[in-house]
Amino acid sequence: MCGIVGYVGPQSALQVVVDGLARLEYRGYDSAGVAVLGEGALHTEKRAGKLANLRGALEEHPIAGEGAGIGHTRWATHGAPNDVNAHPHVDNDERVAVVHNGIIENFAALRLELEDVGCKFISETDTEVAAHLLSTELARHGDKDLAAAMRAVCKRLEGAFTLVAVSVDDPDLVVAARRNSPLVVGRGQGENFLASDVAAFIAHTREAVELGQDQVVELRPDSVRVTDYDGNPVEVNEYHVDWDASAAEKGGYDYFMLKEIVEQPRAIADTLLGRLSVDGALTLDEMRLSPEDLRSVEKIVIIACGTSYHAGLIAKYAIEHWCRIPCEVEVASEFRYRDPILDRQTLVIAISQSGESMDTLMAVRYAREQRAKVLAICNVNGSTIPRESDGVLYTHAGPEVGVAATKTFLTQLAACYLIGLYLAQVRGLKFGDEIEAVIAQLATMPEHVEKVLDTVEPVRELARSLADADTVLFLGRHVGYPVAMEGALKLKELAYMHAEAFAAGELKHGPIALIEEGLPVVVVVPSPQGRSVLHDKIVSNIQEVRARGARTIVIAEAGDESVRPYSDVLIEIPAVPTLLQPIVATVPMQVFACELALAKGNDVDQPRNLAKSVTVE
Ligand code: M6R
Repeated sequence: MCGIVGYVGPQSALQVVVDGLARLEYRGYDSAGVAVLGEGALHTEKRAGKLANLRGALEEHPIAGEGAGIGHTRWATHGAPNDVNAHPHVDNDERVAVVHNGIIENFAALRLELEDVGCKFISETDTEVAAHLLSTELARHGDKDLAAAMRAVCKRLEGAFTLVAVSVDDPDLVVAARRNSPLVVGRGQGENFLASDVAAFIAHTREAVELGQDQVVELRPDSVRVTDYDGNPVEVNEYHVDWDASAAEKGGYDYFMLKEIVEQPRAIADTLLGRLSVDGALTLDEMRLSPEDLRSVEKIVIIACGTSYHAGLIAKYAIEHWCRIPCEVEVASEFRYRDPILDRQTLVIAISQSGESMDTLMAVRYAREQRAKVLAICNVNGSTIPRESDGVLYTHAGPEVGVAATKTFLTQLAACYLIGLYLAQVRGLKFGDEIEAVIAQLATMPEHVEKVLDTVEPVRELARSLADADTVLFLGRHVGYPVAMEGALKLKELAYMHAEAFAAGELKHGPIALIEEGLPVVVVVPSPQGRSVLHDKIVSNIQEVRARGARTIVIAEAGDESVRPYSDVLIEIPAVPTLLQPIVATVPMQVFACELALAKGNDVDQPRNLAKSVTVE
């Protein structure tokens, strides 16, 4: 939530910062603003709404400046999304400007204290206290040491924050502080960058520096200095970003989401790459947890939010089936508040695309305090959750810019399957052949997804025909149930429609009362092979809703003729093992939601009220 950019160097800071904000807009789009230094003054411009509004304002009133610059794209927490509450915020003398991501929880008390000493507040934000505090501390340091002032301010703040500031008294300096909210440095030649995400500066440099918890960084054109809140220098971790700027471009598509759906076969292949050795065994070297660690696991708890939670629900079926280890799945925001039972024999798997979801991060910290081992499944290299976990398995989906998770979901599934199979392998469970067979099937998933993508045109037509529907229901059983939940979530967030998923077996316990003439009901049908009981039961469920007037949209394995008579629309997917079916069954749902949202005129990359990563609780 909220995107932050900082730049210091010979280029136009305004240009670099605005371009950076364009790449971070997925993090929030309630307002955007910039501050640049020049000619002994601070020049700010900010506008409610998307970045286009800020760009328009900057064209009408150009601002000049040769010094450092900062920028912000906002997802509103405190105060309405208007011009006044937009960041940056400045002190009363307009000598310092601050942008912020997070929530300053003790802002009300600080605001009263600052008002008592004469500070005039103009916004409703929590951030403005940081601007006034910084100015007060800076005055204490003879207007010279912005970093020292920042360290002093941070000690007074409670909550989660990344703060980035500039001061007219030192125009070639950007100072930032990090607690809980993401921030990464980009090292250039004679210039340096700061951002919530490397995407903001990837066009300029691929050399990045991770910032740790409670650290302050001073950025000058030729130096990057990182200290703790007491001013002690700290060692930092530098890394090379292995994707380039084109990965975060639309590449000829109208929307990132359309591109990201199409990228799925490649993303799955990249996630599987290098994990399967020639002898059929799995190698997950990067994950840091030893086979001994994994052999001692007695219980698994998966924590995640949103789409990542759905990946966790599917993982439970696979892990319990392959490894016979009890596995619980819980939304991260509920987890630590119910006093869960964890110990050294518990493996907590935290799934997070961004690695920054605050709910998941807090659950990870809680689990580690309880001595559980934590393994992260994450897409963003160097992000907070994998850094604070005992081990990590990175998905290699590449940057996902569309707010709705698509390719990262399928790669999370691939990663979950890898972990399940690896656990079975290291624990020596007696079905080596089965493991090898599943691994071989997993390796074919990219081509199956490709096939689904080649045949989804009828799904697009169907979606356009349902643009005026009020409600769509989704049904599934077994792994098809979380797939149905994911289909409903996609429709809610993109098309702003009432969409709800039910375990098909629960229908007759209440939800069937919702069925009325013409109501679209999407049903995910398990493979008729193997678990045929499950298959036959859902075929009965389809008939039950159809008998009551529902319009049935059935997603079933190609060649499954048993469902054809009861399907108003039949969407065929390739035959794959039941546990892997979510990978292929999800794709038509993504396309369905995306197309339906487009038919309604919605922006599928930046759906209303949402932000890509939720970095506040
Ligand atoms: O970055 P994370 O995977 O931790 O994010 C979790 C959810 O916020 C995320 O999946 C969200 O539900 C997406 N908008 C779904 O499309």
